[in-house]
Amino acid sequence: MANRTVAVIAGSLAKSSVSGRVANALMSMQTKGIDWQRVDITALPLYNYDLETANPPQAWTDFRNAIRAADGVLFVTPEYNRGPPGALKNAIDVGSRPWGKAVWNGKPAGIVSTSPSNLGGYGANHILRQNISYFTMPVLLQPGMYVGAADKAVGADGKPAEHVREYWTKYLDALAEWVDRHAQARAKAA
Ligand code: FNR
Repeated sequence: MANRTVAVIAGSLAKSSVSGRVANALMSMQTKGIDWQRVDITALPLYNYDLETANPPQAWTDFRNAIRAADGVLFVTPEYNRGPPGALKNAIDVGSRPWGKAVWNGKPAGIVSTSPSNLGGYGANHILRQNISYFTMPVLLQPGMYVGAADKAVGADGKPAEHVREYWTKYLDALAEWVDRHAQARAKAA
């Protein structure tokens, strides 16, 4: 199958972010069929429709173009107070406008949640699912990816630790198949 481009959005702004490390480690796994494209959300001004003029903030335009160009999206979110961080919700909002032009529509997605605790960011994972349910965005449901003890899931070399490798490979292979299936269906319908 042809390679598909998957935009990877890590939900944390912190340089030492655990979820950012998980995102990078996932990307390092060289999954067959996927070209990864890390899309940064740190520079996105907070969504305010007063700025939605003929010249919106450049960071919004760059972000929208990056998502538009991708075949699919992988969200890697930490959990802040049982939901995704505000920065990630802001990125969802930025991508959802102008009205009728949401860049999310038609993009198959994976959601990975992370936490140093054992719950693996379950709350953030499902609240993010609810946020994107406004779009025609098919989300991979099985296998699920709730990364508990996430601070121990990535080695000092930035690679996935031995104990997560098998499951992460299974998840990414399923994501590759999921994105390809939906990209093919879209191409057929066009
Ligand atoms: C947290 N943390 C956290 N953890 C969790 O499992 N459930 C939660 O609801 C919260 N809430 C929360 C709120 C805020 C504001 C912060 C800063 C942190 C802890 C969190 O999992 C931990 O700090 C991770 O390192 C955050 O991920 P990143 O930002 O390092 O990727």
